Amino acid sequence: MAQPRTAAASTTAPRKARAPRKAAADPLFDLRWRRALRDLRGPLARLYGDAHDVPALLDRVRAVAEGRWRERPADLRALDLLRDVDPEWFLSQDMVAYVAYADRFCGTIAEIPRTIPYLRDLGVTYLHLMPCLMPRPGQSDGGYAVMDYRRIDPRLGTMDDLEQAARALRAQGISVCLDLVLNHTAKEHDWAERARAGDPFFQAFYLMFDDDRLPRDYEATLVDIFPDQAPGSFTFYPDLNKWVWTTFNEYQWDLNWANPEVFLAVLDTILHLANKGVEVFRLDAVAFMWKRLGTTCQNLPEVHDILQAIVQATRAAAPAVIHKAEAIVGPRDLVPYLGQGGHEGKVAQLAYHNNLMVQFWSSLASRDTRLMTQVLRTHFPERFSRASFATYIRCHDDIGWAITDEDAARIPYLQAHAHRNFLADFYNGSFPGSFARGADFQSNALTGDRRTNGSFASLAGLEAAIESGDPTLIDHAIARILMGHALIASFGGIPLLYMGDELGMLNDHGYRQDPELAPDGRWMHRPRMDWPLVAGLPDRPRSPAARIHDGVRAIMAARKRLEALAAQVPTRILDTGHPALFALLRADAIRPLTCVFNFTEHPQRIACRSLGLDDHLEDALAGRRVGVEEGELRLSPYQALWLRRAA
Ligand code: GLC
Repeated sequence: MAQPRTAAASTTAPRKARAPRKAAADPLFDLRWRRALRDLRGPLARLYGDAHDVPALLDRVRAVAEGRWRERPADLRALDLLRDVDPEWFLSQDMVAYVAYADRFCGTIAEIPRTIPYLRDLGVTYLHLMPCLMPRPGQSDGGYAVMDYRRIDPRLGTMDDLEQAARALRAQGISVCLDLVLNHTAKEHDWAERARAGDPFFQAFYLMFDDDRLPRDYEATLVDIFPDQAPGSFTFYPDLNKWVWTTFNEYQWDLNWANPEVFLAVLDTILHLANKGVEVFRLDAVAFMWKRLGTTCQNLPEVHDILQAIVQATRAAAPAVIHKAEAIVGPRDLVPYLGQGGHEGKVAQLAYHNNLMVQFWSSLASRDTRLMTQVLRTHFPERFSRASFATYIRCHDDIGWAITDEDAARIPYLQAHAHRNFLADFYNGSFPGSFARGADFQSNALTGDRRTNGSFASLAGLEAAIESGDPTLIDHAIARILMGHALIASFGGIPLLYMGDELGMLNDHGYRQDPELAPDGRWMHRPRMDWPLVAGLPDRPRSPAARIHDGVRAIMAARKRLEALAAQVPTRILDTGHPALFALLRADAIRPLTCVFNFTEHPQRIACRSLGLDDHLEDALAGRRVGVEEGELRLSPYQALWLRRAA
């Protein structure tokens, strides 16, 4: 395996080696370890076998896993057993996720239990608390520059608060998800500080270079992630007299995953946090974890070996826990994150479907679903084994217009670069007739590409519609927002509700007043929860917020009633030939469900036949019979229908 190494990057004599344990094994752990070993040995041998003794490494992985298993609290061990018996628990149609910054949602982690009634009312079973581990002081990339993985950001609370909140949530059927940044640490992390002080053991945790020759060679094929705010992927530190790999911001140092000490240290961190009650780890920026000269250093095959090793070792010590990969990449590169080929059923159980998100916005702007149908039909399997997507329309990050030349070329008159440009213009609001109010983010002078910021509601037209006071425009914006929620609730996987989107919260420009946040435009769609708005919903039932909130609750409640929406059921994208509609079949053997979405502000008609349906239909979303005229269905502007044969 051609792995570029700096002198410092090859660790031969692990210093922190624990003595291989000889104590009597716990029989349950032993069974789980043997299960894990089957799928652990291969990846570790491929990753580290060239330079390291694999059996000795496996002993050390076992020691970490068993040590943490011994510390695992009884209630979590009970959950482990439950999920050993039902390992597909997270694929249920009952699952609905909510994503929030603890401070912006309710102040501190200790306050989270008070929000449980609100979350339960929305149908939430999974709460992703955005970065809450101790970040570096000052700018921290929204908390993704962590200086201590074992401490909670003191502004949010303590590890005890997290443990208690997790217990309270678990008691109400809500699993806690936490971010774990795998690609980098803050440069203030203890490992980095020791590296900086000259300790070679910790220097080998990072990618450091004595001169700029290799960095320059790498940069020839790397893509800038923050071309505006942090151009380049390497930083020179005069005190160290070294170049350090910094893919994201200067203060985020990339970890050297070619060093098995990094694997062991991160695994131990995961299992430590799992014992505090974290049930889902969002593995941040995983695409970047392995580097090879002459490539973009994204999505390399070794990444999938690392993920398989992490997932399998976690299963040995904390089988209740699952992992979600954050790889915001093109369609071809995304599929392997949910297990392809030899990794099938063995890597992360969830991965973000950023392509669904991109295609939603693309179809909405162009009023044309052909690209969406084409991309989602050709690149993605109908189902994965023991894995599925996290589906979403907006998140805390910008939207990168991941539309490839190859995909665009299959649609007549569509040119990829021009289309990406159109989308950036449409969503920053400058395109004539655009309903959106967003902003450009990170224009790349080299490629001409721009990314986009903005909240779901503002991008979907609610901000402009409210300003215009035109009730039809307000209706359209609300319908777009609800159609997006109906899409992610029915597509297959776990729908993610980003805090505030259930109320149609608009862009928040307040971040510009905060010097720590001002340089990063993504804060415009990371608002503070508007609890007075929530309290006022019953008094203003026709307000946009109340209509959106009611609509989202109804969509999630309908989802939970429909077995066809479980993630195990295949998702077949239908090619109806109708350019305004997107349609998919959830091919349940007993009661299949056909979901149809109108991406335009015009009423549309489609023959039931072209959806493979007869005319005896009900809409399981609205819970009523559907009128069919002369064999045709009618959809109102931006309507979503979940069709099945009427009972
Ligand atoms: C992920 C996060 C993003 C962050 C990046 C670097 O993509 O979602 O907010 O900037 O990782 O950690």
